[in-house]
Amino acid sequence: MKTERQSEELNRRNAAFDNKLRPVQFGEFVGQQKIRDRLELAVKAAKERGESLDHVLFSGPPGLGKTTLSYILGDAMGVHVKTTSGPVLTKPGDLAGLLTSLEPGDIVFIDEIHRMAKTVEEYLYSAMEDFAIDIMIDQGPNARSVRLELPRFTLVGATTRIGLIAAPLRARFGLVNRLDYYFPAELAEIVTRSAAKLGVDVEPDGALEIATRARGTPRIANNLLRRVRDYAQVKAGNLITKQVAVDALALLEIDPNGLDEMDIKILETICGKFGGGPVGLSTIAVSVGEESDTIEEAYEPFLIMEGYLERTPKGRVATSLAWNRLGLKPVGGVQPSLF
Ligand SMILES: Nc1ncnc2c1ncn2[C@@H]1O[C@H](COP(=O)(O)OP(=O)(O)OP(=O)(O)O)[C@@H](O)[C@H]1O
Ligand SMILES: [Mg+2]
Repeated sequence: MKTERQSEELNRRNAAFDNKLRPVQFGEFVGQQKIRDRLELAVKAAKERGESLDHVLFSGPPGLGKTTLSYILGDAMGVHVKTTSGPVLTKPGDLAGLLTSLEPGDIVFIDEIHRMAKTVEEYLYSAMEDFAIDIMIDQGPNARSVRLELPRFTLVGATTRIGLIAAPLRARFGLVNRLDYYFPAELAEIVTRSAAKLGVDVEPDGALEIATRARGTPRIANNLLRRVRDYAQVKAGNLITKQVAVDALALLEIDPNGLDEMDIKILETICGKFGGGPVGLSTIAVSVGEESDTIEEAYEPFLIMEGYLERTPKGRVATSLAWNRLGLKPVGGVQPSLF
């Protein structure tokens, strides 16, 4: 068991690593072409008109580049990015302090925006729309509200849970972007760029080997690269060939198709305990000891995209690919529609 301090230290180190490899300009940001085009256009138009950028919302599974894009926007607009996160915003005052310290055009980045308190959210509506907030001063009979004008700023929100964003909030974002999993070729490019930054040589098929095991996710690709780099440095003269990548990843027991422990646990539950399904999301969640939301937003999309799982009106169903992956034979035959 890791102590809290150890895992805090680990988080801090991982965040530092994220930052080191984080692209700072659009040109370095690989993939998500449509989103990039849309944002670059919006930046160009706003700059030409000398205006602030429209409010921007990013959604999508963890590690796909939401935070990265937010900082890239700041760089492209030439403005400050002030960062906060949903869980920290528990009362309107938390937001007021931040908003009143802005310079015109600045970006306010709210990570995990789905987790901010309802009262703060309502406050944000007028800030986003009218660039003004009403704050209460004094208490009791002297209490009165004072309107504070704010500079025109850009709110950039990020969330892994777009379904939890209330319609009125969502409607106030001019640009809503959903990030998707990356293709192996894109992840290979990210690995190659990151390797250069880390000072290790990687051959194209070495990069691709890491990429195909990265679960469609740049953060995972970079983390795998970090592990493979250790191996290459100690055992292979600091050069990552395909074989070096294969050997290093085998040592780490990384799945050839990028499935992680929880992915496997989910498939094992559906196949092993529920005969392949259909089985409801909440039942799966209880069986694997994870929250339904996390399974739905962070695990299922990948399993569905890769063809291991199907969502049916009756529940989740494992496909033949899932049975094969687990080395099991479908119990009582799998529904013919799945083949
Ligand atoms: N398109 C990309 N090109 C290159 N590197 C990327 C790209 N997207 C993400 N990365 C790398 O992956 C890391 C994780 O990305 P980021 O922190 O932006 O993810 P996120 O979507 O904000 O995740 P979370 O939901 O966990 O906050 C970054 O530090 C960066 O190094
Ligand atoms: Mg982030």
